Order: sequence, then C-alpha cells, then structure tokens
Amino acid sequence: MTINPNFPSELDIKPSLNAFARLSDDRFGATAQRRAIETYGIAGRVWEASYAMLAYLDRASSALDFRDDLELDPLPFTEAHRGQAPSSDVLTILELGSGAGLVATRISSYLREGRDAMIITDLPEVCPLLQHNLRGSAVVEVHPLSWGSRQDALSIASSLALSPERHLTHIICSDLHTHQHGLSQVYFPALLAPLLRTLLDLTSEPVTPPPQEPPEVIISYRIRSLAKETPFWAAFGLWFAFSPVLARQKARTADTPDGHGWERFVSAPGQEETFVFVARRRPESRAWDVPESDEDLLGGVGAGGSPGRKADDTFETILLMSLDPMDV
Ligand SMILES: C[S@@+](CC[C@H](N)C(=O)[O-])C[C@H]1O[C@@H](n2cnc3c(N)ncnc32)[C@H](O)[C@@H]1O
Repeated sequence: MTINPNFPSELDIKPSLNAFARLSDDRFGATAQRRAIETYGIAGRVWEASYAMLAYLDRASSALDFRDDLELDPLPFTEAHRGQAPSSDVLTILELGSGAGLVATRISSYLREGRDAMIITDLPEVCPLLQHNLRGSAVVEVHPLSWGSRQDALSIASSLALSPERHLTHIICSDLHTHQHGLSQVYFPALLAPLLRTLLDLTSEPVTPPPQEPPEVIISYRIRSLAKETPFWAAFGLWFAFSPVLARQKARTADTPDGHGWERFVSAPGQEETFVFVARRRPESRAWDVPESDEDLLGGVGAGGSPGRKADDTFETILLMSLDPMDV
C-alpha cells in the first residue's frame, strides 16, 4: 500500500495565521489555506517555519515589520542583490516541498526576469496547487520532484540546461521536517532519508560537477519532536557543514558601546524553537559513496569514506548553545 504523506489518517490541521493573510493577496490567507487543505492535505497549509524563512529572506516585505535594526550573517541573497551596484551573479534557485508556494512567491519578487530562474517542486499531485498560485510568474517554473528520486533531480537539471553560466546557486527547504503528534511514522524516517538523498543528488555530479561551488542550502526548521528529528541532523551534518543564521543589533548604546554581540537569528519573539540554517556540502564528501539503504544513510554509513555507523553533533551543539544559561 502506498502511503500518501499529505493525507495521513489522523490528519486534522487548520490554516496558519500569519501576516501575509492580511495582505490583499489572499492566495495564502485562511480561506485559501482551508480550501487547499481539503484538496492537498498537509501541502495546502502554510507551515510555521516558512514565516521564519521569510523573516530572513524577505525583510523588505510589507507583511513583516522590517527589522532594519538587525545585521544578519550570512547576508540573505535577496539583499546581496539590492546593493548599490547590481550584482552580476545569476541566481538559480530550487525549492523542495514548496507546498502552497508562499515562500516561492515572495522570493520570486527579488529575481530578475530574463536572467534569474527559480524551480519550485513538490510531489506530482501537489504541482497543480503551485501552478495555480504561481501562475503569471515569469521567473518561476513548477516541476515534480519526489524526494529520493534521482531521476526527478536529473530531469530538472537537464530542463534547466545547467552549465558553468547557469548552475544551482541556492536550495530552499521550508518546514520539511513537519509532522503532527501521531503522524511520526509517516514523516520519520520514511521521508527524511529520501530528503537527504535528494539534497545529496542536487549537490553531486552531474547536477553540480566540481569545480563548481555547491549551492547554498537554506533550511527553516521548527523543532517538533527532537527524538525523531535529531537522527536526520546527525546524518545531514556528516555530509553538509551547517550553522544557524546569526543576527545582531546595529545600534550602539551607552551600555554596549561596541555594539551587541552576534546571536542566533530568532524570527520573532516566542519563535526560539524555529531555526534558519545555512548549509554547504562538505567538499570532501563528494568523494564518498552514498549508501543505497535509507537506514544506512541515516546511520552515517559511507560518510567519512568508511562503512561504519556514525553521527555528527553540530545540531546538538547548536541546541546547547541556544539554551538560556538560566535554564541550564
Ligand atoms: C509541511 S509541508 C511544507 C510546505 C511549505 N514548504 C511550507 O513551508 O509551508 C511539507 C511539503 O513537503 C512535501 N513532501 C512531502 N513528502 C514529499 C516527498 N516525498 N517528495 C516531495 N515532496 C514531499 C509535501 O507535499 C508538502 O508540500
């Protein structure tokens, strides 16, 4: 029996409330989400970590209180392109699990027609929702991409006609670790190993042949069940170096004459459990064999060029550093 990840049997979800729902653009408001959930299940909802992704990448949006007082590290690519001299870099962005397409809609507003490209992807049955919500966009194309399907990754690469001038610069992953209480068998590990496999495919030959720099992977993630999510990060960190986006106040005050220190970027008060990570494929990992079994992949087999099971502790270190010292 094939399990449909967007319609698990206990599904009971409601639209998320957000600043974008107040905009005149109602494609992502409560009514639109309610309708989309009926047809597309989980994929029809706008998930919480996408708001953190947009707080990072879409600071100029009228839907958000632009936090001009914050410096961000790394600078979002959407702002690097708003410098005084227009950047000559060509952007080629691929999004995985785009769902209703809110993140793509906002990012596409920063792209330059005729030059940049954005491919948004999801399961084949979700693509009509993306096509509908992104209709009329001159820079965005919708393609099916089921995680774990090497064929899908390769066919996108060939339709983009990737070349030294046109190579993947960014991969966007917004809230792809989501699950609800009771839905854990659906999302873990059955989907997360294929997700990691797709990230490996997209950053390996032939999609990204050396010496091309691998794309920057930007992931927004909300902690829902650490026990189930940690194995993904323990495997991911073996193949990708990753760290949270950092922020600091620009203003200097009498108490902080040297300015404020860098801290993990938190998109809004109370959102400490939502992270925005920036990751890059570890160069040495391109020579390692990716194991065929999902269980082996999540167990770290093949990483480091060796068959033993292993785990990376970047994620645990980030969590420990995020704890308020008063709580320890
Ligand atoms: C929780 S939703 C997140 C949607 C959107 N990115 C957001 O932040 O609102 C997870 C998305 O991943 C997609 N997805 C789940 N399993 C998938 C798979 N095996 N291959 C491709 N996409 C998948 C779902 O269709 C859904 O759109």
